[in-house]
Order: sequence, then C-alpha cells, then structure tokens
Amino acid sequence: MAIILLGGEKGGCGKSTVATNMAVVMAQRGADVMLLDTDPQGTSSNWVERRNGREQTDLPVVNCAQKTGEVYATLRDLASRYEVVIADAGGRDSKELRSAMVAADVLLMPLQASIADLETMNRMAQLIELAKAMNPALRVMGFVSRGPTNITGREAMEAREFLGDCQGIEVLGTVIRDRKIYRDALLEGLGVTEMGNSKARAEVQLLVDEVWRALA
Ligand SMILES: Nc1ncnc2c1ncn2[C@@H]1O[C@H](COP(=O)(O)OP(=O)(O)OP(=O)(O)O)[C@@H](O)[C@H]1O
Ligand SMILES: [Mg+2]
Repeated sequence: MAIILLGGEKGGCGKSTVATNMAVVMAQRGADVMLLDTDPQGTSSNWVERRNGREQTDLPVVNCAQKTGEVYATLRDLASRYEVVIADAGGRDSKELRSAMVAADVLLMPLQASIADLETMNRMAQLIELAKAMNPALRVMGFVSRGPTNITGREAMEAREFLGDCQGIEVLGTVIRDRKIYRDALLEGLGVTEMGNSKARAEVQLLVDEVWRALA
C-alpha cells in the first residue's frame, strides 16, 4: 500500500540502518512489511539473513527481496501485496534510486549534520524534480541522522534549518542520533526496538509515527 524509499546521494548516512529499524517497528505493530534492497552492496538483505539465522523464533517477520537496476515495476507489484514496502537504495545517483523515486509514496532522506551531506541536496533537488514530473504525488521528507548525542549542541538544529530552506522538502522533527546500539542491531539482525536502549527505541518509534501520520 505505501512505498517508503530510503534514498539520497550521500553514502553512509544511515539509510539501511533506518530502513531495517523502521521495518522492525512496523512489523512489531503487526504490519505485513516487505523490505526491498535495491543496493548491490546488500546491507539490508544481509541484515535480514542474519535475522532469519537467529535461534529466536518469536521475532516479527520482515520479508525481504533484492532487486537492482530498474525497480519501478517490482515496487508497484510489491505494493499491491504488502501493507508497507520499504525500499533501500544505495547512496548515489543510480537507476535504482531514480526508478524507485517514480514508484514511491515517500522519499525519506537521512542526512548527517555536516556540510558534506547537506550540499548533496542540490543534486537531489534535480532528481526530485525529474521524479515528480512522473510521480507528482511523491512526498519528500528529510531528517537528521547520526546526530550528536550531545543534545545541547546546535548542529542538528542548524541542519534542520538548512533542510527547511530546501524547497519541497518536509523536515521531520525526529533526529536519529549516533549510538553504538544501531551498529550492534545491524550486526545482530535486530531492530533497536528489540534491544535494551530506551533512547534509540524512542527515536525510531517517533520517526515511524511521524512518517505514518504524514501519510495518513
Ligand atoms: N544512528 C547511527 N548510530 C550509529 N551508527 C550508525 C547510525 N546509522 C548508521 N550507522 C552506522 O554507519 C554505517 C553506515 O550506515 P548505513 O549502512 O545504514 O548507511 P547507508 O546510508 O545505508 O550507506 P550506503 O549509502 O552505503 O547504503 C554502518 O556501519 C552503520 O552501522
Ligand atoms: Mg545502505
């Protein structure tokens, strides 16, 4: 029903981390979730493999498929069969990213609070314009990812202000902070909401709530 695409032109900002964690939260809430990994690097699909290899049998199911190249038809087909499709694209301009943007309901862009990440928005703006010509309903949402855990600092706020000045982008209030638990979760095939860190759990749930509310 809904296609949420994690994408952007910057590598390493947390797209796969957020994709896998959002998938877990939605599965925990009873949704039938499909994670489509469109990145040949396979971060999300490797995570699902580790998840499925765990001895625990009570974990909520996160379905996963891999497809590279042109992914428009695959995404539309999956959307007709699953409640939520979360697509994970690699951090560069690619056929996968471009075709997924034409199919998606939401392009969700994590950005680190650093000029190296933020200045990729200029190039993304061109891709968004192209995608919107074919997919006018596409919603574009940006949020700060891997933000410093020192919440008194101004970096995350300044990055949000920067994003707020970018036309056509909805800036989310949630900030995903840089926490070791996210790296541990990726390694373990889990979501942080299945582990014991209340701060990480809260921010991931908040992110899902914010995206969900915007889609309702
Ligand atoms: N919030 C976070 N806190 C701590 N570590 C993080 C966080 N988000 C991502 N990481 C770590 O940063 C690295 C890159 O994250 P991830 O693979 O999610 O980024 P990506 O945007 O998907 O990268 P790519 O563009 O290569 O697909 C990983 O080692 C991951 O564990
Ligand atoms: Mg990735």
